[in-house]
Amino acid sequence: MKVEDINTVLVVGSGNMGQQIGFQCAVSGLDVVLYDISAEMLEKAMDRVGKLAKTYMAGGRITEAQAVEALERITTETDRKKAGKNADLISESIPEDPDLKGKTFAAFNDICPDRTLFTTNTSSLLPSMFAAATGRPDRFAALHFHDTRFTNIVDIMPHTGTSPETLALIEAFAKKIGQVAIVLKKESNGYVFNAMLMTLLESAQTLAAKGVASVEDVDRSWMGVMHTLVGPFGIMDSIGIDTVYKITDYWAKKTENPQQAANAQFLKRYVDRGDLGVKTGRGFYDYPNPDFQKPGFIAGETNKAAG
Ligand SMILES: NC(=O)c1ccc[n+]([C@@H]2O[C@H](COP(=O)([O-])OP(=O)(O)OC[C@H]3O[C@@H](n4cnc5c(N)ncnc54)[C@H](O)[C@@H]3O)[C@@H](O)[C@H]2O)c1
Repeated sequence: MKVEDINTVLVVGSGNMGQQIGFQCAVSGLDVVLYDISAEMLEKAMDRVGKLAKTYMAGGRITEAQAVEALERITTETDRKKAGKNADLISESIPEDPDLKGKTFAAFNDICPDRTLFTTNTSSLLPSMFAAATGRPDRFAALHFHDTRFTNIVDIMPHTGTSPETLALIEAFAKKIGQVAIVLKKESNGYVFNAMLMTLLESAQTLAAKGVASVEDVDRSWMGVMHTLVGPFGIMDSIGIDTVYKITDYWAKKTENPQQAANAQFLKRYVDRGDLGVKTGRGFYDYPNPDFQKPGFIAGETNKAAG
Protein backbone atom coordinates (compact mmCIF):
# COMPACT_ATOMS: atom_id res chain seq x y z
CA MET A 1 0.00 0.00 0.00
CA LYS A 2 1.16 3.52 -0.80
CA VAL A 3 -0.12 6.76 0.69
CA GLU A 4 -1.75 7.51 -2.71
CA ASP A 5 -3.97 4.48 -2.05
CA ILE A 6 -5.47 6.12 1.05
CA ASN A 7 -8.55 7.78 -0.41
CA THR A 8 -11.40 6.83 1.90
CA VAL A 9 -11.18 7.60 5.60
CA LEU A 10 -13.61 6.15 8.08
CA VAL A 11 -13.99 8.38 11.11
CA VAL A 12 -15.40 6.34 13.98
CA GLY A 13 -17.16 8.60 16.49
CA SER A 14 -18.65 11.87 15.25
CA GLY A 15 -18.15 13.98 18.38
CA ASN A 16 -15.95 17.00 18.90
CA MET A 17 -12.80 15.41 17.45
CA GLY A 18 -14.37 13.16 14.82
CA GLN A 19 -16.00 16.23 13.25
CA GLN A 20 -12.70 18.09 13.07
CA ILE A 21 -10.68 15.16 11.74
CA GLY A 22 -13.36 14.26 9.22
CA PHE A 23 -13.54 17.80 7.90
CA GLN A 24 -9.75 18.15 7.70
CA CYS A 25 -9.59 14.92 5.65
CA ALA A 26 -12.39 16.09 3.36
CA VAL A 27 -10.73 19.48 2.86
CA SER A 28 -7.61 17.57 1.84
CA GLY A 29 -9.53 15.85 -0.96
CA LEU A 30 -10.37 12.52 0.70
CA ASP A 31 -13.73 10.78 0.88
CA VAL A 32 -14.90 10.62 4.46
CA VAL A 33 -17.43 8.35 6.12
CA LEU A 34 -18.51 9.63 9.54
CA TYR A 35 -19.71 6.67 11.60
CA ASP A 36 -21.50 6.85 14.95
CA ILE A 37 -23.79 4.64 16.98
CA SER A 38 -26.32 7.44 17.12
CA ALA A 39 -28.08 8.97 14.10
CA GLU A 40 -28.90 11.99 16.26
CA MET A 41 -25.17 12.54 16.95
CA LEU A 42 -24.46 12.34 13.22
CA GLU A 43 -27.09 14.94 12.48
CA LYS A 44 -25.62 17.28 15.10
CA ALA A 45 -22.12 16.48 13.82
CA MET A 46 -22.95 17.54 10.26
CA ASP A 47 -24.42 20.75 11.59
CA ARG A 48 -21.18 21.43 13.48
CA VAL A 49 -19.05 20.43 10.49
CA GLY A 50 -20.91 23.10 8.51
CA LYS A 51 -19.90 25.64 11.18
CA LEU A 52 -16.34 24.35 11.03
CA ALA A 53 -16.35 25.00 7.28
CA LYS A 54 -17.35 28.61 7.98
CA THR A 55 -14.52 28.95 10.52
CA TYR A 56 -12.01 27.67 7.94
CA MET A 57 -13.43 30.12 5.37
CA ALA A 58 -13.34 33.04 7.81
CA GLY A 59 -9.69 32.25 8.53
CA GLY A 60 -8.90 32.30 4.79
CA ARG A 61 -7.91 28.62 4.80
CA ILE A 62 -10.44 27.58 2.16
CA THR A 63 -12.76 29.23 -0.34
CA GLU A 64 -16.51 28.77 -0.33
CA ALA A 65 -16.23 26.44 -3.34
CA GLN A 66 -13.67 24.30 -1.49
CA ALA A 67 -15.94 24.19 1.55
CA VAL A 68 -18.87 23.02 -0.56
CA GLU A 69 -16.70 20.34 -2.20
CA ALA A 70 -15.37 19.16 1.15
CA LEU A 71 -18.85 18.89 2.66
CA GLU A 72 -19.98 16.87 -0.37
CA ARG A 73 -17.20 14.36 0.29
CA ILE A 74 -18.54 13.55 3.76
CA THR A 75 -21.22 10.89 4.19
CA THR A 76 -22.70 9.65 7.45
CA GLU A 77 -23.41 6.07 8.48
CA THR A 78 -24.74 4.15 11.46
CA ASP A 79 -24.43 0.76 9.74
CA ARG A 80 -21.02 -0.63 10.65
CA LYS A 81 -20.81 -2.95 7.63
CA LYS A 82 -21.53 -0.21 5.13
CA ALA A 83 -19.18 2.18 6.96
CA GLY A 84 -16.20 -0.20 7.05
CA LYS A 85 -16.30 -2.02 3.74
CA ASN A 86 -14.28 0.49 1.66
CA ALA A 87 -12.16 2.15 4.32
CA ASP A 88 -8.46 2.65 3.61
CA LEU A 89 -7.82 4.13 7.05
CA ILE A 90 -9.82 4.38 10.27
CA SER A 91 -9.44 7.37 12.56
CA GLU A 92 -11.16 6.48 15.84
CA SER A 93 -12.50 9.18 18.20
CA ILE A 94 -14.90 7.40 20.55
CA PRO A 95 -14.91 7.78 24.36
CA GLU A 96 -11.71 7.24 26.30
CA ASP A 97 -12.26 3.60 27.32
CA PRO A 98 -9.72 0.95 26.26
CA ASP A 99 -12.29 -1.89 26.30
CA LEU A 100 -14.74 0.05 24.16
CA LYS A 101 -11.99 1.08 21.74
CA GLY A 102 -10.66 -2.49 21.51
CA LYS A 103 -14.11 -3.98 20.92
CA THR A 104 -14.99 -1.35 18.33
CA PHE A 105 -11.78 -1.96 16.36
CA ALA A 106 -12.32 -5.75 16.63
CA ALA A 107 -15.76 -5.34 15.06
CA PHE A 108 -14.28 -3.30 12.20
CA ASN A 109 -11.47 -5.83 11.80
CA ASP A 110 -14.09 -8.36 10.69
CA ILE A 111 -15.53 -5.94 8.14
CA CYS A 112 -12.67 -3.87 6.76
CA PRO A 113 -10.38 -5.00 3.93
CA ASP A 114 -6.94 -6.34 4.93
CA ARG A 115 -5.30 -3.13 3.72
CA THR A 116 -7.20 -0.86 6.15
CA LEU A 117 -4.96 0.98 8.61
CA PHE A 118 -6.32 1.52 12.13
CA THR A 119 -5.51 4.69 14.07
CA THR A 120 -6.73 5.92 17.44
CA ASN A 121 -7.03 9.54 18.52
CA THR A 122 -6.85 8.63 22.22
CA SER A 123 -5.61 11.43 24.49
CA SER A 124 -4.45 9.48 27.49
CA LEU A 125 -4.37 5.75 26.66
CA LEU A 126 -1.48 3.84 25.09
CA PRO A 127 -2.04 1.93 21.83
CA SER A 128 -0.58 -1.23 23.41
CA MET A 129 -3.52 -1.27 25.86
CA PHE A 130 -5.83 -2.42 23.07
CA ALA A 131 -3.51 -3.27 20.14
CA ALA A 132 -4.16 -7.03 20.41
CA ALA A 133 -7.91 -6.47 20.63
CA THR A 134 -7.93 -4.63 17.28
CA GLY A 135 -7.12 -7.93 15.54
CA ARG A 136 -4.44 -6.25 13.39
CA PRO A 137 -1.84 -4.83 15.78
CA ASP A 138 0.79 -4.49 13.03
CA ARG A 139 -1.46 -2.05 11.12
CA PHE A 140 -2.38 -0.02 14.21
CA ALA A 141 -0.92 3.06 15.94
CA ALA A 142 -2.08 6.29 17.55
CA LEU A 143 -2.56 9.33 15.33
CA HIS A 144 -3.51 12.06 17.75
CA PHE A 145 -4.88 15.44 16.74
CA HIS A 146 -5.13 18.66 18.68
CA ASP A 147 -7.76 21.26 17.79
CA THR A 148 -7.55 21.41 13.97
CA ARG A 149 -8.98 24.94 13.98
CA PHE A 150 -5.83 26.23 15.67
CA THR A 151 -2.98 23.86 14.91
CA ASN A 152 -1.79 21.26 12.45
CA ILE A 153 0.58 19.55 14.89
CA VAL A 154 -0.30 15.87 15.38
CA ASP A 155 1.36 13.07 17.34
CA ILE A 156 2.04 9.62 15.95
CA MET A 157 2.70 6.97 18.58
CA PRO A 158 3.43 3.38 17.54
CA HIS A 159 3.33 0.44 19.95
CA THR A 160 6.04 -2.21 19.79
CA GLY A 161 3.97 -4.30 17.34
CA THR A 162 3.31 -1.50 14.82
CA SER A 163 5.04 -2.45 11.56
CA PRO A 164 7.54 0.01 10.05
CA GLU A 165 5.38 0.08 6.89
CA THR A 166 2.34 1.15 8.92
CA LEU A 167 4.29 3.83 10.73
CA ALA A 168 5.62 5.24 7.44
CA LEU A 169 2.14 5.17 5.90
CA ILE A 170 0.54 6.97 8.84
CA GLU A 171 3.28 9.59 8.75
CA ALA A 172 2.74 10.09 5.01
CA PHE A 173 -1.03 10.20 5.57
CA ALA A 174 -0.64 12.93 8.20
CA LYS A 175 1.35 14.99 5.69
CA LYS A 176 -1.25 14.32 2.98
CA ILE A 177 -3.94 15.91 5.17
CA GLY A 178 -1.77 18.94 5.89
CA GLN A 179 -0.50 17.98 9.33
CA VAL A 180 2.95 18.20 10.87
CA ALA A 181 3.68 14.93 12.65
CA ILE A 182 5.66 14.52 15.83
CA VAL A 183 6.61 10.84 15.68
CA LEU A 184 7.30 9.38 19.11
CA LYS A 185 10.13 6.88 19.38
CA LYS A 186 8.29 4.92 22.03
CA GLU A 187 4.99 4.86 23.89
CA SER A 188 4.58 7.56 26.51
CA ASN A 189 1.48 8.92 28.26
CA GLY A 190 0.29 12.25 26.92
CA TYR A 191 2.44 12.22 23.77
CA VAL A 192 4.73 15.29 23.60
CA PHE A 193 2.70 18.49 23.91
CA ASN A 194 0.08 17.12 26.30
CA ALA A 195 2.75 15.68 28.60
CA MET A 196 4.28 19.14 28.95
CA LEU A 197 0.89 20.82 29.23
CA MET A 198 -0.38 18.47 31.95
CA THR A 199 2.67 19.27 34.06
CA LEU A 200 2.02 22.99 33.66
CA LEU A 201 -1.68 22.65 34.49
CA GLU A 202 -0.95 20.50 37.52
CA SER A 203 1.52 23.10 38.86
CA ALA A 204 -1.06 25.85 38.35
CA GLN A 205 -3.75 23.83 40.15
CA THR A 206 -1.42 23.13 43.07
CA LEU A 207 -0.55 26.81 43.48
CA ALA A 208 -4.23 27.79 43.58
CA ALA A 209 -5.46 24.79 45.59
CA LYS A 210 -2.82 25.39 48.28
CA GLY A 211 -3.75 29.07 48.38
CA VAL A 212 -0.28 30.17 47.34
CA ALA A 213 -1.54 32.42 44.54
CA SER A 214 -4.89 33.37 42.99
CA VAL A 215 -6.07 31.94 39.68
CA GLU A 216 -5.54 35.36 38.11
CA ASP A 217 -2.03 35.78 39.50
CA VAL A 218 -1.00 32.33 38.26
CA ASP A 219 -2.14 33.25 34.75
CA ARG A 220 -0.72 36.78 35.00
CA SER A 221 2.65 35.34 35.92
CA TRP A 222 2.74 32.85 33.06
CA MET A 223 1.40 35.28 30.47
CA GLY A 224 3.62 38.13 31.64
CA VAL A 225 6.85 36.18 31.52
CA MET A 226 6.14 34.00 28.51
CA HIS A 227 4.28 36.68 26.49
CA THR A 228 1.38 34.32 25.77
CA LEU A 229 -2.24 35.26 25.15
CA VAL A 230 -3.57 32.80 27.68
CA GLY A 231 -2.38 31.27 30.96
CA PRO A 232 -2.92 27.82 32.49
CA PHE A 233 -6.36 28.57 33.96
CA GLY A 234 -7.53 30.15 30.72
CA ILE A 235 -6.36 26.97 28.97
CA MET A 236 -8.32 24.81 31.44
CA ASP A 237 -11.42 26.89 30.74
CA SER A 238 -11.12 26.14 27.04
CA ILE A 239 -10.44 22.41 27.55
CA GLY A 240 -13.45 22.20 29.91
CA ILE A 241 -12.97 22.05 33.70
CA ASP A 242 -15.01 18.81 33.79
CA THR A 243 -12.49 17.13 31.48
CA VAL A 244 -9.53 18.46 33.45
CA TYR A 245 -11.21 17.29 36.67
CA LYS A 246 -11.77 13.76 35.31
CA ILE A 247 -8.11 13.44 34.28
CA THR A 248 -6.84 14.86 37.60
CA ASP A 249 -9.17 12.66 39.63
CA TYR A 250 -8.16 9.56 37.61
CA TRP A 251 -4.43 10.12 38.21
CA ALA A 252 -4.96 11.14 41.85
CA LYS A 253 -6.66 7.79 42.50
CA LYS A 254 -4.25 5.77 40.39
CA THR A 255 -1.10 7.21 41.99
CA GLU A 256 -2.65 7.92 45.42
CA ASN A 257 -1.06 11.34 45.26
CA PRO A 258 -2.60 13.56 48.03
CA GLN A 259 -1.80 16.86 46.31
CA GLN A 260 -3.44 15.66 43.11
CA ALA A 261 -6.46 14.59 45.18
CA ALA A 262 -6.60 18.12 46.66
CA ASN A 263 -6.31 19.57 43.15
CA ALA A 264 -9.22 17.36 42.03
CA GLN A 265 -11.31 18.68 44.93
CA PHE A 266 -10.41 22.25 43.96
CA LEU A 267 -11.60 21.60 40.38
CA LYS A 268 -14.72 19.76 41.57
CA ARG A 269 -16.06 22.94 43.19
CA TYR A 270 -16.37 24.47 39.72
CA VAL A 271 -17.76 21.27 38.19
CA ASP A 272 -20.44 20.95 40.90
CA ARG A 273 -21.58 24.51 40.21
CA GLY A 274 -21.76 23.80 36.46
CA ASP A 275 -18.99 26.32 35.81
CA LEU A 276 -17.18 24.25 33.20
CA GLY A 277 -15.37 26.99 31.29
CA VAL A 278 -15.89 28.53 27.86
CA LYS A 279 -18.65 26.06 26.92
CA THR A 280 -20.91 27.14 29.81
CA GLY A 281 -19.95 30.82 29.73
CA ARG A 282 -18.28 30.65 33.14
CA GLY A 283 -15.32 28.81 34.59
CA PHE A 284 -12.27 30.39 36.14
CA TYR A 285 -13.26 33.42 34.04
CA ASP A 286 -16.53 34.71 32.55
CA TYR A 287 -17.04 34.43 28.78
CA PRO A 288 -17.16 35.66 26.04
CA ASN A 289 -14.92 38.47 27.35
CA PRO A 290 -12.68 36.91 29.97
CA ASP A 291 -10.64 39.24 32.17
CA PHE A 292 -7.34 37.77 30.95
CA GLN A 293 -8.08 39.12 27.45
CA LYS A 294 -8.75 42.66 28.70
CA PRO A 295 -6.12 45.38 28.48
CA GLY A 296 -4.50 45.88 31.85
CA PHE A 297 -4.87 42.25 33.01
CA ILE A 298 -1.15 41.64 33.28
CA ALA A 299 -0.69 44.93 35.10
CA GLY A 300 -3.29 43.74 37.65
CA GLU A 301 -5.90 46.33 36.70
CA THR A 302 -8.74 43.80 36.24
CA ASN A 303 -9.71 41.48 39.05
CA LYS A 304 -12.39 38.88 39.58
CA ALA A 305 -12.38 37.07 42.88
CA ALA A 306 -11.23 33.49 42.44
CA GLY A 307 -13.96 30.94 43.02
N1 LIG B 1 -11.79 16.72 23.04
C1 LIG B 1 -10.50 16.91 22.83
O1 LIG B 1 -9.99 18.02 22.97
C2 LIG B 1 -9.63 15.75 22.36
C3 LIG B 1 -8.39 16.03 21.75
C4 LIG B 1 -7.62 14.98 21.26
C5 LIG B 1 -8.08 13.67 21.42
N2 LIG B 1 -9.27 13.42 22.03
C6 LIG B 1 -9.71 12.03 22.13
O2 LIG B 1 -10.66 11.79 21.10
C7 LIG B 1 -11.61 10.82 21.55
C8 LIG B 1 -13.01 11.38 21.41
O3 LIG B 1 -13.11 12.59 22.13
P1 LIG B 1 -14.26 13.65 21.78
O4 LIG B 1 -13.96 14.85 22.60
O5 LIG B 1 -14.42 13.79 20.32
O6 LIG B 1 -15.54 12.87 22.39
P2 LIG B 1 -17.09 13.17 22.17
O7 LIG B 1 -17.76 12.74 23.41
O8 LIG B 1 -17.29 14.57 21.68
O9 LIG B 1 -17.51 12.18 20.98
C9 LIG B 1 -17.53 10.78 21.10
C10 LIG B 1 -18.48 10.23 20.02
O10 LIG B 1 -18.32 8.81 19.97
C11 LIG B 1 -19.61 8.24 19.77
N3 LIG B 1 -19.55 6.85 20.17
C12 LIG B 1 -19.62 6.30 21.40
N4 LIG B 1 -19.45 4.97 21.33
C13 LIG B 1 -19.27 4.67 20.02
C14 LIG B 1 -19.04 3.46 19.30
N5 LIG B 1 -18.95 2.28 19.92
N6 LIG B 1 -18.91 3.53 17.96
C15 LIG B 1 -19.00 4.71 17.31
N7 LIG B 1 -19.21 5.89 17.93
C16 LIG B 1 -19.34 5.86 19.28
C17 LIG B 1 -20.54 9.11 20.59
O11 LIG B 1 -21.89 8.97 20.17
C18 LIG B 1 -19.96 10.50 20.30
O12 LIG B 1 -20.54 11.06 19.14
C19 LIG B 1 -11.21 10.42 22.97
O13 LIG B 1 -10.40 9.29 22.92
C20 LIG B 1 -10.40 11.63 23.43
O14 LIG B 1 -9.45 11.29 24.40
C21 LIG B 1 -10.06 14.43 22.50
